[in-house]
Amino acid sequence: MSSVAPAQQSGPVAEQASASTARVAEIRRQADGVVGIVLTDPAGGRLPDWAPGAHIDLVLPDGTTRQYSLCGDRWDAHAYRVAVLREPSSRGGSAYVHDSLREGDLVGLGGPRNSFPLVPAPRYLFVAGGIGITPLLPMIAQADMVGADWTLLYGGRSRNSMAFLDELGRHGDRVRVAPQDETGLLDLPAFLGTPREDTRIYACGPAPLLDALADATADWPSTSARTERFVARERSGSGSDSSFEVTLARSGRTISVGRDETALEAIGAAGVDVLSSCRQGTCGTCETTVLEGRPDHRDSILDDDDRQAGDCMYPCVSRAVPGDRLVLDL
Ligand code: FES
Repeated sequence: MSSVAPAQQSGPVAEQASASTARVAEIRRQADGVVGIVLTDPAGGRLPDWAPGAHIDLVLPDGTTRQYSLCGDRWDAHAYRVAVLREPSSRGGSAYVHDSLREGDLVGLGGPRNSFPLVPAPRYLFVAGGIGITPLLPMIAQADMVGADWTLLYGGRSRNSMAFLDELGRHGDRVRVAPQDETGLLDLPAFLGTPREDTRIYACGPAPLLDALADATADWPSTSARTERFVARERSGSGSDSSFEVTLARSGRTISVGRDETALEAIGAAGVDVLSSCRQGTCGTCETTVLEGRPDHRDSILDDDDRQAGDCMYPCVSRAVPGDRLVLDL
């Protein structure tokens, strides 16, 4: 992922996200290959409120759209901060940000949206891998502000590649910095300790780290750990792509979703717009309320309890359980 960007796309898909305009007020190096960008309203006005875990769509002047976690001060209504990692293979997006974006440029802005919210808890364990530190920074600020007991385990390739170490330094022993070239892979079992009912675990980073965290928290209560993935999970759900019917409750229309199309595409073809962005089930933009029927969830956002509840779905990837039909609040 480019920074904490669940997904990326360009062209027509980018236009699906509603975008206002922001000005690049500051670009600052945060680590090797990482720049921090401060965005402001071009007219000096307030920006929409957000909460820890939220991300925005950034529509770059070259037409690409990327999602980035907000990593600044949520109480500053006049500035957003994101951090962008240069992806080695990038030819758009992060390369554009690093090579071409300049202070004063205008960019499109969508969101903020939050599919990784921080729930109240007396104790938090935060786990970050590389640029995955970004959504956790405002969570840490919040946890600190409310006096929660919290600890961060922060891994990265090397100290030089790890952004925001200077800002985190003020928290002393609460922050455990573990560069791989000094200490090896993160020792998650040692960090997590014994399962505790009062503790919430928030993690963001590359897939191998999150997979290791899933293994390490297997004995924890099912609601303990929340993670944000940069790219879509290996496909979950039933795996079959049979056709199914969707009824749009507000108009009463029923449309058929073919086996080779997504529900989002079929709904769009029927002339009903659902806001979308990543189209990979990672950004949360297309969240839709389910009124009836059982969704076959294939997103990378919902946890097991959310899936069990079955009252919302992401139609860019999710379908109906084979043989069932869905009634959606559209
Ligand atoms: S468009 Fe991103 S989750 Fe559906």
